[in-house]
Amino acid sequence: MNPPIVDKFGRVHNYLRISLTDKCNLRCNYCMPQEDMQFMPSAWLMSAGEIQTLAGIFVDMGVQKIRLTGGEPLVRKDVGTIIESLGKLPTSLTLTTNAVFIEQYISTLKNAGVRSLNISLDTLDEERFRSITKRDHFTKTLANIRLLLAEGFSVKLNMVVMRDVNVEEVNDFVRMTLTEPNLHVRFIEFMPFNGNQWDFSRIVSYNDLLSRISEEFIFAPLSGEPNDTARTFRVEGGQGTFGIISTITNHFCDSCNRIRLTADGKLKNCLFDTSEVDLLTPLRKGEDIRAIIYDHFQQKHFAHGGHTEFTNKDAKSEYEQNRRMIAIGG
Ligand code: 5AD
Ligand code: SF4
Repeated sequence: MNPPIVDKFGRVHNYLRISLTDKCNLRCNYCMPQEDMQFMPSAWLMSAGEIQTLAGIFVDMGVQKIRLTGGEPLVRKDVGTIIESLGKLPTSLTLTTNAVFIEQYISTLKNAGVRSLNISLDTLDEERFRSITKRDHFTKTLANIRLLLAEGFSVKLNMVVMRDVNVEEVNDFVRMTLTEPNLHVRFIEFMPFNGNQWDFSRIVSYNDLLSRISEEFIFAPLSGEPNDTARTFRVEGGQGTFGIISTITNHFCDSCNRIRLTADGKLKNCLFDTSEVDLLTPLRKGEDIRAIIYDHFQQKHFAHGGHTEFTNKDAKSEYEQNRRMIAIGG
């Protein structure tokens, strides 16, 4: 075992998010630019073997939880092999996916010990799904979410709430938690990334969400886990939970434990920090990458990658310097 990855603020980083690809079978406009979308050449991507080696190194450095992300992780042809190999590590393993291909992977997920998945779903309306994702996969997505619940998985539904897009559906999502014990809806404040038409006026804040929900439901806060990003609640008499990930108006950076590895093997110490370091090239040269990892986390800023407040007039242009969300993996 190596020492844990601790930053200047004493935060222990034990949660690794690995992006498997920057490709996706959907085209959500808050995630990827609608034009000029250039994907990474496959030679840039970490191979299944490299992912396994890197994950093993991070586990030696104290990582206890691994999440696979994308783009869409299930568009990668060798994702089954990757899930299988990471399932053997002494960590919990989970996935963030749009669920379109999930029915093909139920047994792989079960065999690898995956118990909980995050599913991105921003609307319960077929027409709106098409308009957000530019694809016709609504029926399949919903059927696959039901399948996961029926197979006993715990499902966290991620909804990115945008004032001009889907805010009036918030209470429909909350209603789903009334009868479904394994369903956890999470409302995410819309965040700025390269080319995603973010504007502060488009976000729906933590306070706005709670007041909207309280118009229809009586609910109580739940006591969270130490590194939670969502502040969670349960409706009176309800079975599942709902939560709010308020990155913008009520951040949770003080308990951040996240390490991000992009599909091309770059280490990010924060979703918003643009100073990434390459791990894949030194790994391919046979060099020891541990010192690079420790050093990068010594540089970690306290909040939001050291950037300006989101309410500042320069925020949009500053945050646009980052990668596109689809190339980070969330
Ligand atoms: N703001 C907030 N959440 C986003 N996601 C993608 N782009 C954004 C954004 N701009 C979410 C997706 C997915 C998760 C990985 O991140 O909905 O659930
Ligand atoms: Fe694909 Fe998820 Fe991005 Fe939508 S948010 S385009 S589903 S990676």
